[in-house]
Amino acid sequence: MTPRLLFAPFAILLAAVSLHAAPAPANYDESKVPPYTLPDPLVCADGSAVRDAAAWRAKRRPELLDLFAREVYGRTPARRPEKMHWAVTSVERSALAGKAVRKEITIWFTDKKDGPQMHLLIYQPAGAAGAHAPWPVFLGLNYYGNQCVNADPGITLSRAWMRDSAEQKVVANRATEATRGTHATRWNVETVIARGYATATIYYGDICPDHKDGLPLALGAVFGTPGAEARAPDEWGAIGMWAWGLSRAMDYMAGDGELDSRRVAVHGHSRLGKTALWAAAQDERFALAISNDSGCGGAALSKRIFGETVGIINRGFPHWFAKNFRRYDANESALPVDQHELIALIAPRSVYVASAQADTWADPRGEFLSLKGAEPVYRLFGKKGMPAADIPAVDQPVAGDAIAYHVRTGKHDIAPYDWAQYLDFADRQLKR
Ligand code: GCU
Repeated sequence: MTPRLLFAPFAILLAAVSLHAAPAPANYDESKVPPYTLPDPLVCADGSAVRDAAAWRAKRRPELLDLFAREVYGRTPARRPEKMHWAVTSVERSALAGKAVRKEITIWFTDKKDGPQMHLLIYQPAGAAGAHAPWPVFLGLNYYGNQCVNADPGITLSRAWMRDSAEQKVVANRATEATRGTHATRWNVETVIARGYATATIYYGDICPDHKDGLPLALGAVFGTPGAEARAPDEWGAIGMWAWGLSRAMDYMAGDGELDSRRVAVHGHSRLGKTALWAAAQDERFALAISNDSGCGGAALSKRIFGETVGIINRGFPHWFAKNFRRYDANESALPVDQHELIALIAPRSVYVASAQADTWADPRGEFLSLKGAEPVYRLFGKKGMPAADIPAVDQPVAGDAIAYHVRTGKHDIAPYDWAQYLDFADRQLKR
C-alpha cells in the first residue's frame, strides 16, 4: 500500500471531525469584522417594496414573523392549552413596610394542580386607595426564583429545578432561604414601586428548565415538545417557551383591574432580554420592550461578526433556538433576516436597548446598529428614530420618540443606572 492510500481513511476521518469542529473563536477586533449586507426590512420576499404602514402590517410584518419563527426561534403553538387556568394564591396589602401590595398567582398549564405551573409575583404601589390604579407594569422573567428579586420573607420560595450556583446560594439545584434577595439590585422593586409602577415576575425555569434536556419538561410536557435534537427543524426552543410564558402573564394581567395591561413594559437581561424582544415582537399587547445586554440572538446583529456568533451560541445552548437556526452556524450571510427586523416587528411600540461597555461578547455596536436598522419601519408610523447616527459615548443615553439606547460603563449586568434610564423612558412612553 502506498503511504498515500494508507492515509486516505485518516483524511476522511479528519474531514468528518472538522464538520463538528468548534466554531471559530469570537472576534473582538473592529477592523476584522467582514463586510456584511443587511436584508432591507421594507422589501418583501417577492421583491416588492413596502411604502406605508398598511402594507407593512398586512404583508411584510407577517412575513418577517414567520421567518423568525421558522429560521430562528421556532414556532409558537397557535393555541394555549384548553385547561390552562389560574388562581390568586396570596395577597398582602401591606408588603414592603406598607409601601406595596404583593400578590402571588399560580398559572397551571393544564387542569392538574400538581402538573406544570408557573408562579407570578406582582408588587404594585400601595397608593391612596388605588387613586392611580390601574398601574402600568414592568414584567420580566427572573433567573433564580421569585424570591431572588427581593428579600421580602413573604415571597413563596421556588421549589423548581434551577442551575446550581454557589454565588446565588442554589444548592442541589434548589433554591435555599439564602437565595432571598440575591438579585435585588437587578430588580430595584422599591424604586420601581415608588415611581408609580407595578413590577411582575416569573421564574423562567417554571416554563422551561434551562439545560439541554429541558425542552420536554414543564411546558414542553404539555405541548409534547421533543428533546433539543429530536425536534422538528422549526419547532420552538426555550426562548420561544419563555416568551410564551410572558404572554400568559399578560393574559392574567389583562383581567386584573388594578393593573393596566395597555401599559406593560416587558424586559429582560441577557438570554431573557432575547426572550423579551421575541415576546414583544409576537404579542402586540406589550407597549414597551426593554433589552438589557441581550446580545447574540437578541438585539445584536447576527451578520456582523463580532463577539458571540450564531455558531457559538447554538453549540453552547442547543435548546434555546429552533434547530433551523443551526443552518447559519458560520453561515450568517445566508440568514434571510437579521435582528434589526426583530426590533422592527415591535414598531410602532417603544423599545429600549441597553449595552454594557465591558460586555463585548454581546457586541454593543451591533446592538446599536440593529436599532438603527429598524428606524425605517418606525418612520412608516411617523416615528423619528434616535437622534444619533453612531453609537453614543458611554453613559450618554440617546432617546427618540419610540427608540432609545445606551451603553453603560461596566460589565454584563443590570445596574441601578440601567433602571434609572428605563424608568425615565417609561415615564415618557407609558405615563398618561
Ligand atoms: C451566555 C450566552 C449569551 C447569554 C448569556 C446570559 O453568555 O453566550 O448569549 O446572553 O449567557 O444569558 O447570561
